[in-house]
Amino acid sequence: MYRASQAHSPSTLVLAGGIPDVRLVSATELARAYRRVLRHQGGALLGYGDSLGHPRLRKALAEMLSATRGVAATPETVLITRGSQMALYLVARTLVAPGDVVVVEDPGYRPAWEAFQLAGAKLVRLPVDGAGACVKELATLSNRERIRALYLTPHHQYPTTVTLAAGRRLELLEFARTRHIAIIEDDYDHEFHYDGRPVLPLASADTTGAVIYIGTLSKVLAPGLRIGYIVAPSPLIERAVAYRSFMDLQGDHAVESAVAELLEGGEVQRHIRRARRIYHARRDVLAEELRKQFGAMFFFTVPTGGMALWVRVEEGVDLSAWELQGLREGVAFQLGRRFTFDREMIPYMRLGFASRTEAELKEAVRRMARALRTLPRKRLAKKEVRR
Ligand SMILES: Cc1ncc(COP(=O)(O)O)c(C=O)c1O
Repeated sequence: MYRASQAHSPSTLVLAGGIPDVRLVSATELARAYRRVLRHQGGALLGYGDSLGHPRLRKALAEMLSATRGVAATPETVLITRGSQMALYLVARTLVAPGDVVVVEDPGYRPAWEAFQLAGAKLVRLPVDGAGACVKELATLSNRERIRALYLTPHHQYPTTVTLAAGRRLELLEFARTRHIAIIEDDYDHEFHYDGRPVLPLASADTTGAVIYIGTLSKVLAPGLRIGYIVAPSPLIERAVAYRSFMDLQGDHAVESAVAELLEGGEVQRHIRRARRIYHARRDVLAEELRKQFGAMFFFTVPTGGMALWVRVEEGVDLSAWELQGLREGVAFQLGRRFTFDREMIPYMRLGFASRTEAELKEAVRRMARALRTLPRKRLAKKEVRR
């Protein structure tokens, strides 16, 4: 069985990347909004509704996306889904025919790849470097393959958190426009940018309808609400909503309406500002603790945004053994292998900081260090020893 979150004992400090701290969400405000909408529109909310999603939420999201992300969304071009995973699945089903080529980032987000593969896509890897996806390589790829779509996380590349360089963004849009290739932009944690303003999505610069924009409230609010969305030209939205209605007639309109109310009243925006301040401080604490405990053994740049650090570990450390020993010490972290196209082992790990308090982060790093001390170091090759 596939499960998004692995079961860990409650005392394990899990440093999963991309998980928000749901302890910061005000259950009282959410409950109040839920009670209010049910009291005032109960009848309408408890019956069948529009498969596109509750109109009030589509309107609130379209306004938020236009105002803060430059995405020209209207309620008609927004489809609410149960999380962005459903959005990815619907876009895959709508866009991809068996055998179509979808280009994906390597390393990248495997659950999206799986949705494309379920629709019969052939996946082709695009490497990622310190400036994001290697857009230059697309020209060579497209000489070899007929590309149908690109699946990208340009704002905070998943899992490296690198922001796609400005020049590459322009190249990418031009490439998609001239070759009639769709770009599926997964902008999963847009607001969590700490140094400077967030870079606007590719969708904000798209003049030809090449970009299908996918977002979620899982990071800015809570994954358990299962609210994601697709913004795309109407023909695609119509096909996607038809597909959706075959498996799930509609989302939870009472919850959608309550969340719309929190967006309209500015509560969500206030929550985002508070969470951003807290995550910013947590990012710095984790970076500092890692430097103190592991020094030159770890190489990383502090990311300008995102919810995790992408760390290169010096050669000679048995990462799989460390991961196992870490679990025994009560700390869980993600190895780079989890994100590579061929599950190839790479000397990287991803350490999420958003969902843990500063004290928990310090303790988690101490546990990592304890786990490391008990590991036998791999023997260095003779050549390396002599140097
Ligand atoms: C890159 C990326 N896309 C999509 C998702 C799916 O999120 P959800 O289905 O909760 O909206 C995640 C969740 O971790 C993610 O990291």
